[in-house]
Amino acid sequence: MSRPLSAAAVAHPNLALIKYWGQTNAERNLPANDSLSVNLSGAQTRTEVRFTSALTDDDITLNGVAADAETRKRVTAHLDRVRALAQIPLRARVTSRNDFPAGAGIASSASAFAALSLAASHAAGLKLDASALSRLARLGSGSACRSIPDGFAYWPTGPETEAYARQLAPPEHWELRIITTYFRRTAPKMVTSLEGHRAAPTSPFYRARLAQLPQRLARARNALLDRDLETIGPLVEREAISLHAVAMTSQPVGHPEISGIYYWAPETLAVIHAVQRWRRDGVPVYFTLDAGASVHLLCEAATQPTVEARLTSLLEDLHGTYFISRPGRGARLVA
Ligand code: PMV
Repeated sequence: MSRPLSAAAVAHPNLALIKYWGQTNAERNLPANDSLSVNLSGAQTRTEVRFTSALTDDDITLNGVAADAETRKRVTAHLDRVRALAQIPLRARVTSRNDFPAGAGIASSASAFAALSLAASHAAGLKLDASALSRLARLGSGSACRSIPDGFAYWPTGPETEAYARQLAPPEHWELRIITTYFRRTAPKMVTSLEGHRAAPTSPFYRARLAQLPQRLARARNALLDRDLETIGPLVEREAISLHAVAMTSQPVGHPEISGIYYWAPETLAVIHAVQRWRRDGVPVYFTLDAGASVHLLCEAATQPTVEARLTSLLEDLHGTYFISRPGRGARLVA
């Protein structure tokens, strides 16, 4: 096997339209339900991995700063998976940079583990196909598997052999715009998405959510393939609210101080209310939320200027800002 020993890759975060919330296997990040997502072209992680005999420990730098202990542990565990597959003993220098803020509900772990999986496996000389790469990324962070294929992805539940993301449609399938808002004044979240997944079954509404999902996903998938925003929009909104209803009524382990997980900030609700008003005014724009205070707005390219004009004045009051994405490409190697 030829081993380049170093490689760099980029990946985009992805936004779930139908969300992954809850697991059947926490060790292996196997999801309790199928999910659908779109890659966000407007945000990116770039990661470089260099295996070298000059190191006795992995050396990990994120956004120019040495990684904290928790992150080091997760990244080293992921490099260990690559080392085991490639049978390579060397430690690695990992340098990674996001061009978007972490902890705002923009899934940085997805783009991070997608880019790391591709750069590390390539550097170690592994030639993984798209499904094997997606499965590897999933072990780092569940939703990272959906940042591997280009465009729109579908990640089914099921056994290990099936638990990888497939492309549902390429980026150019739909001229959708995703406007991601975030707020300068919101505090970092108190409960990670990993803790949220594990807490989900403690919600009395979790079973009801899982029972509803197959039908919602089938309808959302058809609407996506038909580029039908008026059908998928309300489904995506109900889906986000369903996840948050479960989160708000679940009890995470190790957090006796809280009686439910509130990822929302006051600004989150202000944007939701504004979107509802804009729709009443005839503007076709819809919202969704992940595990954070950020709100993502979905609209067609033709509606983008109207939404941006309204959003700009709202975000001034909320001390917020935004970036815009189109459906993005999957993880790829770069020079
Ligand atoms: O991959 P994780 O463990 O960060 O979970 C992601 C959870 C959500 O972003 C809330 C939903 C999703 O499907 O991406």
